[in-house]
Amino acid sequence: MDKPISFILNGKKVEYAGSASDRLLDVLRDHFHLTGVKCGCKEGECGACSIIMDSLLINSCMVAMGRVENCTVVTIEGYSKTERFKIIDQAYASVGAAQCGFCIPGMVLASECLLSANPNPTEEEIRDGISGNLCRCTGYNAIVKAIGIAAKEGKGLW
Ligand code: FES
Ligand code: FES
Repeated sequence: MDKPISFILNGKKVEYAGSASDRLLDVLRDHFHLTGVKCGCKEGECGACSIIMDSLLINSCMVAMGRVENCTVVTIEGYSKTERFKIIDQAYASVGAAQCGFCIPGMVLASECLLSANPNPTEEEIRDGISGNLCRCTGYNAIVKAIGIAAKEGKGLW
């Protein structure tokens, strides 16, 4: 039998004994029960399945488990325990940026990656930073506003 795939998931070392060709999205949801990682298109187009892998925003539907060995993976469940999450969460709530909520875990992680690369983004940079994450409800303006608020309120955290 092949050696299990080991990686760090939300701060804890974990192992996965299934196939290296299994999809990270499915493993996170079905094996580790991290259902905040949403399954939208399974084609790398919608960003609903976004995670942070080795500090980069990644569509987990496009990653085979073989690539995850020794990597660090953060899902919305792990990220929601951080100070930065609280700022983003409050900012989204303050402008009603979440409607059905399906895109929001991915949007929040995209917000985190954007702000950690650029703590003081312009509106255009915010729109660019979330361009890989589709939202069918909000028209994006509230989300863009929320990220701008988070950048101000969380000054110094990113
Ligand atoms: Fe992965 Fe849409 S489900 S990008
Ligand atoms: Fe419904 Fe974004 S809030 S898809």
